[in-house]
Amino acid sequence: MIQFEALFKITYGLYIVSSGNKNKGNGFISNTFFQVTAEPPRFASCCNKDNFTADLIKETGAFSVSVVHKDTDPEIISRFGYKSGKDTDKLNGLKIKYGETGVPIVLNDCIAFLECKVIQTIDVGTHYMFIGELLQSEIVDDTKEALTYLHYRKVRKGAAPKNAPTYIDKSKLASTPVGSGFKKFECTACGYIYDEAEQDIKFAELPDDWVCPVCGSEKSDFIEVT
Ligand SMILES: Cc1cc2nc3c(=O)[nH]c(=O)nc-3n(C[C@H](O)[C@H](O)[C@H](O)COP(=O)(O)O)c2cc1C
Repeated sequence: MIQFEALFKITYGLYIVSSGNKNKGNGFISNTFFQVTAEPPRFASCCNKDNFTADLIKETGAFSVSVVHKDTDPEIISRFGYKSGKDTDKLNGLKIKYGETGVPIVLNDCIAFLECKVIQTIDVGTHYMFIGELLQSEIVDDTKEALTYLHYRKVRKGAAPKNAPTYIDKSKLASTPVGSGFKKFECTACGYIYDEAEQDIKFAELPDDWVCPVCGSEKSDFIEVT
């Protein structure tokens, strides 16, 4: 038996994984970045083959990881997690520094960053798992806490799009109530859907100062959809 709800009990962080160079740089939001060995320090990053960043990591053989803080601007999550560098220059206007390998490192809302050189690429089907060896790491802001995937989901009411390895089609959830009066509300700014069936709180009961977890639009910018 596979109870997909059990997968929500796994904890993750939330990061911006970037690659490329000064001429062509890009990054994506990832919750599947983690350390795999201590000596030498090696890390894994799971990246959808369709992500523009996957092409850049393959080209440059390196990537950076920005650890973002709990109050990260929703626009940053929206820019890196819901848009593709195939259509837009995601780094435009941001605070960027370039690493030893030349990859961009996003400093906006960043509390620490790492830079890794790819030593192995594993094809895991829909995604590549890039194994990287640590080249450099630095704390940027020691006063703030890192954003976790749980905080993003439970407190900020964020969701993960289909490209995320941990995306779960809600039809697979045994506990998804059918015809139980749950409603859906769409953000008219970015299209994010607040689906009451997947949340702990009904939309009407959310506080007035609640904002779209993706783009930061106000609650009043949402419309009910079927
Ligand atoms: C919360 C969250 C977690 C995500 N985690 C991953 C991940 O671990 N791996 C991945 O490939 N995509 C993940 N995504 C999706 C990518 O960030 C998204 O598809 C992005 O637009 C790809 O950008 P790119 O095409 O510019 O590289 C995640 C998105 C969100 C919002």
